[in-house]
Amino acid sequence: MVLKGCSVDLFQKKSLLSPNMETVVSGIRSTGKLHLGNFYGAVKNFVQMQHEYNCYFFIADYHSLTTHPTPGDLHGNVKQVLIEYLAAGIDPEKATIYVQSDVPEIAELYLYLNMNAYKGELERSTSFKDKVRAHPDNVNAGLLTYPVLMAADILIHKATKVPVGKDQEQHLEMARTFGNRFNRLYQNEYFKEPFAFSFTEKLVKVPGLDGKGKMGKSEGEGNAVYLSDDPEVIRKKVMRAVTDSGPTEDNQPKTEAIQNLFDLLKVVSTPDTFSHFETLYNNCQIRYGDLKKQLAEDIILATAPIREKIIEIAADDAYLRQVARFGAIKARESAAKTIREVREIIGFKSF
Ligand code: TRP
Repeated sequence: MVLKGCSVDLFQKKSLLSPNMETVVSGIRSTGKLHLGNFYGAVKNFVQMQHEYNCYFFIADYHSLTTHPTPGDLHGNVKQVLIEYLAAGIDPEKATIYVQSDVPEIAELYLYLNMNAYKGELERSTSFKDKVRAHPDNVNAGLLTYPVLMAADILIHKATKVPVGKDQEQHLEMARTFGNRFNRLYQNEYFKEPFAFSFTEKLVKVPGLDGKGKMGKSEGEGNAVYLSDDPEVIRKKVMRAVTDSGPTEDNQPKTEAIQNLFDLLKVVSTPDTFSHFETLYNNCQIRYGDLKKQLAEDIILATAPIREKIIEIAADDAYLRQVARFGAIKARESAAKTIREVREIIGFKSF
């Protein structure tokens, strides 16, 4: 395949991949903007992993069809995720970044795996049950077989490590089940078992601004700071963060809302700043307004380089096209090999 407009540089780096590196796959659903929780909780990990593993990071747009996006929304969301992953530091010369629907081999493997996935086990998946409860009027077959598609995403590259959150453990267990079942059916040790994986030992806790729980999109606009938020928006959101009436005794335990602000400070500020406010809290001298001002400025500082890159990359359609095309070529190379072998194992033969 010849790729017009793709720099020679991108192609040359490909050969640096060591063939015995372990393979990592992770899919990112295209549901819009990334927030600090996504960045510190996941993407920063991806960025570190790309130096040590053969990484495939893809944008899960087939998966997004279960909720029937409009054609405009579909493309816009895919583009947004692509831009933000690049801006956050995922390097298309190191990791393979691709759009799932650019690799039709995944859909083919999904078809084969579906023949061995049973209605009962699919109905028992917690994420399926949650979705049925939330949207009883949209229980489509794609939703039921979501774990089969996810298994295909992973098995297509024979990945063994899958950086995902706790909520995805059950899906990974199902991916192992489907792979093993295929192996047993065809008496072959073809697919390897994939496992959930965290690059760093301790997970970074990124709370939201509403005084309770973690940062998330579904908790409302004010709870999450997005990587693309400009400084004024960040200041406004942080200044509105929930606090309490302040400590009245030395070394008083913190309420959840205040602990959350300190946890955020720990993520974005220097250790000196953190202990400065810690001391002020402990001797009841703290003014939450000052803490929030500092927190806002440190968030702005921490995210400024990413925000600048988001703006720069978003304006560069030629670069995005080049990255997506290059990623698709690399991903399809690996996927086509798997499909060739799988078809042979199943017994398809050409006349
Ligand atoms: N189900 C994952 C999520 O909701 C997204 C995903 C789809 C995925 N396919 C994947 C993650 C393959 C890892 C590997 O976050």
